[in-house]
Amino acid sequence: MARSATHFVCQNCGAVTGRWQGKCDACGAWNTISEEPAGRTARVSGPGRAPRKGRPFALETLAGTKEEAPRLASGIGEFDRVTGGGLVRGSVLLVGGDPGIGKSTLLLQIAAALAKAEAAGGARHRVVYVTGEESAAQVRLRAERLALSAVPVAIAAETSVEDVIATLSQGPPFRLVVIDSIQTLWTDAVESAPGTVTQVRAAAQALIAFAKRSGAAVIFIGHVTKDGQIAGPRVVEHMVDAVLSFEGEGGHHFRILRAIKNRFGPTDEIGVFEMTGAGLAEVANPSALFLSERDLGAPGTAVFAGMEGTRPLLVEIQALTAPTAFGTPRRAVVGWDANRLSMVLAVLEAQCGVRLSGHDVYLNVAGGLRIQEPAADLAAAAALVSSLAQAALPADAVYFGEVSLSGAVRPVAQPPARLKEAAKLGFKQAFVPEAARVEAGREGALKLTPLAALVDLVAMIAPATSGRARAFSGEVGTGSPQKMRSLQEK
Ligand code: TYD
Ligand code: MG
Repeated sequence: MARSATHFVCQNCGAVTGRWQGKCDACGAWNTISEEPAGRTARVSGPGRAPRKGRPFALETLAGTKEEAPRLASGIGEFDRVTGGGLVRGSVLLVGGDPGIGKSTLLLQIAAALAKAEAAGGARHRVVYVTGEESAAQVRLRAERLALSAVPVAIAAETSVEDVIATLSQGPPFRLVVIDSIQTLWTDAVESAPGTVTQVRAAAQALIAFAKRSGAAVIFIGHVTKDGQIAGPRVVEHMVDAVLSFEGEGGHHFRILRAIKNRFGPTDEIGVFEMTGAGLAEVANPSALFLSERDLGAPGTAVFAGMEGTRPLLVEIQALTAPTAFGTPRRAVVGWDANRLSMVLAVLEAQCGVRLSGHDVYLNVAGGLRIQEPAADLAAAAALVSSLAQAALPADAVYFGEVSLSGAVRPVAQPPARLKEAAKLGFKQAFVPEAARVEAGREGALKLTPLAALVDLVAMIAPATSGRARAFSGEVGTGSPQKMRSLQEK
């Protein structure tokens, strides 16, 4: 009997099943399985054709020919930093992000920057922007807004992969091909509808082969699903050389470009941009920007001296504690890991005698930044205690350090770089892990307060307002039953 004409493919991970299921067995996602025509996905050579015999090819050596200039720097510093020094020829990059975050704007600016850059021989780089989402007129309108109309970027409003590749194979080789977006492309080779995993995978495969063949760098724009995954093409993530995500909070102008995967560079670098009326502007000194609207003298804010890749980044962490009206207190966190917040709260409660179980806790990283470093523990704890005690922290202080479950303040990477950035921005003191004092060496124009345990920090913050001795345990603030006790007391 002939095989059934359709099969069922998970749109999240690409797993194939024989019948429809609510949940994909392979990746565990719900409601992602849909029916697609079977049979022609594995073989793209057409129905009924016998698989062709392989032909031998010449093997190469590791020491073989190298290209002279393997990297194409766009000249947009923040982008080049994230890609690890520019685009690698013949490589394929996926840029994901929420709708409206500015992906098309960013890539048009990068395409224009590369088109403007002079290639080695004095000739210009050939750059093309293929849009399946918008019309050529819409792209022109955007270019006008970005004052890039005069730049020699070719545009094409096309969605057929075969047509795109046939067009791009003509004439001198292209240096950069931007595909906006990979989900809108479709190929004749498979029968599924555009946007399905099978189509996206086949389209990506064809373009990756084109990139390797022609030496052009290809950038795919990809949409992100509600839960933050690059939609459908999780499969594409594995196929491309680098995955970048373009992030930002709705109400903020800052945009962060972050490397999630990079075969040719680091994955912990970020690029910071600001969305302006005339496109994305690079932010060369993000710390100054993230701290520009600080609420000096307000309780519950602490400045964290963080690192993003090789770059120090100072951000404000804001905490608010309020007596809870419900049986279970609320914990909400924006820009940081909710599990780490729970951990810091537990350590404050169990090791430092800070009672927070009757309080709702809100934690926010100012400016829409998302912090991933455990080094933010100390700053978060300082902000929480400061809010609870209604005691403002010194405005000229920064904090960094990881907090262990035992309440110890543990060392973190690169204290000198953090301290240097803080000193540069006019900070006068730093609360740091003990080890940082030694490591900081002569970096310190700052007064360092080394901390062995979190409880020491709690003891310093709390009595500052209460005027009592080292630790306090009475009513504070507006007479709410907030209790803070230090272990030292016992
Ligand atoms: P866009 O690049 O179309 O986003 P995406 O491709 O990720 O969906 O940009 C969307 C937003 O950016 C849009 O709401 C308008 C805003 N914008 C500016 O603020 N300034 C500009 O110069 C441009 C071009 C867009
Ligand atoms: Mg777009």
